[in-house]
Amino acid sequence: MSFRQKMTLFQKLKSTLAVGTGSTAVFVSINIYKNNEQFYNNWLMPFVHLFDPESCHRVAVLACKYRLFPKAKENDPESLSIRLFDRTLRNPLGIAAGFDKHAEAIAGLHAIGFGFVEIGSVTPLAQDGNPKPRVFRLSEDKAIINRYGFNSDGHDEVLQRIKTLREDSQTTGAIIGVNLGKNKESTDYSDDYVIGVEKFAAVADYLVINVSSPNTPGLRDLQHENHLKQLLSNVINKRNSLTAGGQRHVPIFLKLAPDLTNDEAKRIAKVIKQKGCVVDGIIISNTTVERNPSLVNDNKNEIGGLSGAPLTDRSTELIRQMYRLTDGKVPIIGVGGVFSGKDAFDKILAGASAIQIYSSFIYHGPPIVPKIKKELGKLLMESGYANVAEAVGRNAKK
Ligand SMILES: Cc1cc2nc3c(=O)[nH]c(=O)nc-3n(C[C@H](O)[C@H](O)[C@H](O)COP(=O)(O)O)c2cc1C
Repeated sequence: MSFRQKMTLFQKLKSTLAVGTGSTAVFVSINIYKNNEQFYNNWLMPFVHLFDPESCHRVAVLACKYRLFPKAKENDPESLSIRLFDRTLRNPLGIAAGFDKHAEAIAGLHAIGFGFVEIGSVTPLAQDGNPKPRVFRLSEDKAIINRYGFNSDGHDEVLQRIKTLREDSQTTGAIIGVNLGKNKESTDYSDDYVIGVEKFAAVADYLVINVSSPNTPGLRDLQHENHLKQLLSNVINKRNSLTAGGQRHVPIFLKLAPDLTNDEAKRIAKVIKQKGCVVDGIIISNTTVERNPSLVNDNKNEIGGLSGAPLTDRSTELIRQMYRLTDGKVPIIGVGGVFSGKDAFDKILAGASAIQIYSSFIYHGPPIVPKIKKELGKLLMESGYANVAEAVGRNAKK
């Protein structure tokens, strides 16, 4: 082959490659813009999942932060609107804690259609969390195991981000929950939460006392009766003193583990009814340390909290139990293995007033948000409920 022929071949290859890359980029952009569910499920997510889970998590947060995903195209129907946290939410579907740990992507998450965004867990001082690797996919099981161990930018940085967001007129209406955790090294079990209440009460729509992460040694012990009583009374005292000083009465939610025994659940219900310990709501549930025998992926033996499909029924049953134990008087946010409108509806019928997702968002990307909302709206209508509130707890007795 002469030099000239070689150059012509090279030019042809170059332009074929350029056309190929260009058309792939156009194809990908159009499908992302259209929020095409099939494209995400069959192409984009399998491709993204070739990379390590923690890097993908970071890229997903940045993509939300820089608004690379399209804005929700449809307005939510009136039937999905709920009252919670003394606020009106346009829909009951929130992103659970742990996705936007450092409050970087709140506006972007609202834009893709979530009704509320829970950030954190955030610890008073910045800390690195556990060594990597610390997140594992169990794809065949539609599950994740994580042992992040509260990697956090710390209160001050996170507070500043939320303040900046609140000052922007386009995002002042965002519904933000701040999930509070404790530093690994702190020795007083309630101080970190009390400091958190003081820091975030003025900027958060609700606060979460997270005593259910399995990745901070001793944290789950705070769910035990005496510890919990003391912790809640300290936290609620602080909140009430801020209210007395003229601040908004910020609702306080308690996030529970799905691994509670019946007795433990009963004792918690007793504590949160006691004067001085009454919380404004419960979040059920965090990840589980149990390993379902049906798990198939090799990562099943990794240490950490398991989330996703294996958690669906376990968390729904705990919602039902706590709804009954609290006589339906304490609002519950249901979270754990929600992949469809039916999963969300089951939790609402069991007693949840709102729903959160995490793992299904990781497996299916932003199209899961309109999908769940659409399916839930349809189920409500078909079952004769005018809105979410009417359906709450309707199957709690089963
Ligand atoms: C990678 C990862 C990190 C998480 N980090 C936190 C956290 O910092 N604080 C918290 O309260 N829950 C955290 N969670 C738990 C979720 O908020 C949620 O309760 C749990 O994953 C169950 O929901 P899902 O089955 O939809 O994922 C985390 C979950 C995952 C998968």
